[in-house]
Amino acid sequence: MCGIVGYVGDREAQDILLGGLRRLEYRGYDSAGIVTVDVEGEPSLFRAKGKVAELEKAMKDKPDRVGIGHTRWATHGEPSEVNAHPQRVGDVYVVHNGIIENYKELKSELKAYDFKSQTDTEVLAALIDSLYQRSDVKLENAVVQALKLVRGAYGIAVISTREPGTIVAARMGSPLIVGVADDETLIASDASALVGHTDKAIYLNDGEVAVCTAGDVRMLDLASQPVSAKVETIEIDLQSMQKGGFDHYLMKEIFDQPDSLRATLNGRVIKDQDLLRLGGLNMSDDELRKVKNVFIVACGTASYAGLLASYYIERFTDDVTVRVEVASELRYRSFNVPENSIAIFVSQSGETADTLACLKEMKRRGVRCLGVVNAVGSSIAREVDGGVYVHAGAEVSVASTKAFTSQVAALLLIGLVMAQTKGLDQKTLREYIAELDVLPDEIAKTLEAKNDEAKALAEKYNHYDHAFYIGRDTTFPVALEGALKLKETSYVHVEGQPAGELKHGSIALIDDRFFMVAFVDDNWLVEKSLSNVIEVQARGGHIITVTNSDRPIDTEAVITVDTSLKLLTPLLFNVVSQLFAYYMAVARGNDVDQPRNLAKSVTVE
Ligand code: G6P
Repeated sequence: MCGIVGYVGDREAQDILLGGLRRLEYRGYDSAGIVTVDVEGEPSLFRAKGKVAELEKAMKDKPDRVGIGHTRWATHGEPSEVNAHPQRVGDVYVVHNGIIENYKELKSELKAYDFKSQTDTEVLAALIDSLYQRSDVKLENAVVQALKLVRGAYGIAVISTREPGTIVAARMGSPLIVGVADDETLIASDASALVGHTDKAIYLNDGEVAVCTAGDVRMLDLASQPVSAKVETIEIDLQSMQKGGFDHYLMKEIFDQPDSLRATLNGRVIKDQDLLRLGGLNMSDDELRKVKNVFIVACGTASYAGLLASYYIERFTDDVTVRVEVASELRYRSFNVPENSIAIFVSQSGETADTLACLKEMKRRGVRCLGVVNAVGSSIAREVDGGVYVHAGAEVSVASTKAFTSQVAALLLIGLVMAQTKGLDQKTLREYIAELDVLPDEIAKTLEAKNDEAKALAEKYNHYDHAFYIGRDTTFPVALEGALKLKETSYVHVEGQPAGELKHGSIALIDDRFFMVAFVDDNWLVEKSLSNVIEVQARGGHIITVTNSDRPIDTEAVITVDTSLKLLTPLLFNVVSQLFAYYMAVARGNDVDQPRNLAKSVTVE
């Protein structure tokens, strides 16, 4: 979603801002812009629809040493140059992530302004300008006064031609980081834009304003009172931000999974002692033992990771009910939280607006909140009472792959640690530990063995525009996740369904326009799953079966995963469907890493 960068220092701002915007490209956007100001206050504004490369083409070199930049993912108003940020009103330039909810009311009161764009951001710029008319008012005061009148979510950076050399940044619900270094200060909505410049940063909290000059930051709250800031060291693994010889980040991240999963499990699964160790839950054994209900709250792929984990957790506990809730629904619904509940918030970015809102609501109700988060230092990670960082490394491709696998593993660890306090038998614990321990190698083996088959199948099936993915029990969440992956990357219309549900309606759709991917785990349900496959086949369905079974299956295509795993096979099926989605996207000529209309981190609701 939208990205913000800012620079004030003694180097040329344009290059640094463009470099930062390129690092934020992965988040998904549809227009971009930069403004810099010279020492006399002369601005140079460039904006373009499309990619940062288009913006770069439109730019003329200016050696200015202060500026702000933005990648915009359209909310109010179509993607266009005029709607791109920075939005200028008078002397004020604003870049903004988030949504100003009362922009219509504010706009109707700002009668003196002739608005040129359809954005809520231009209204905010006008509001700041209206409070900045008197020559004795400083930009920081105008911004603070404006923000007091605003309702909604924002991360903003503002500069003025009257005060060249200052950037005012503020946050409410949308992440913002100030990078500090000798003689220069940077602003970014995502730590990846600071890489190569500084590893020292201040994470703004909601309601904080940073007044940034070269090498100096002063923090205020919305009452204009000084607040103290904590400078933290950010950890960004540069390698994660590169393609490492692959054509696309998506493929690199699919192949990262053995390593990223090892990083999730490292130090937490100690196989030779049959031990699990989670340092960050901040819950005593007694507290864990009392848990009866677990809410897993997430969006998109993270919610499917939660769903898959819920099947396992209810398998290895007798007295725990797991509810998996999509955050955008839970947030506005009436819901009851029974006694002895905990809530786990699963998020790759740690910034998803709906998930964060649910976290705040659960905290308000006094529920113990845990996080399963990838991005270190993100809003969700900072708000929870405890949790597990998944340590999957930066995930750049919009379609989430390695984060999913690590989220499932981290949730299993939490579930197993809890089950242990409740007296989980040693044999079951040992089985799970043994499987988790070899899972990275099994994934590596599956990726290597199935890559060519997945590619060949994508070449055969890429002309279809409709598909069903089906599964039962733990392969049902894999069907949902596989369907989502294919949708996101290939724009094929795909539905994930419980295998047993097909005949309650969807089977009516089966014809030559559809193909189907059926996940068949060789467990106690194998015969039931195969019956569902046969029902579709009998109606002329084009079926790809993904299975670990050696039973004869004569569907149009079969991918057999050879594995010693018994419990965690769905995670292997999932990497096969990731490969297939990747090759389908390539075969259909799509933008693999930045699919149309999507954003990596959804910071608006
Ligand atoms: C977006 C991304 C998905 C992701 C979802 C939740 O829709 O495109 O890949 O699963 O947000 O994101 P989170 O960062 O909370 O895991």
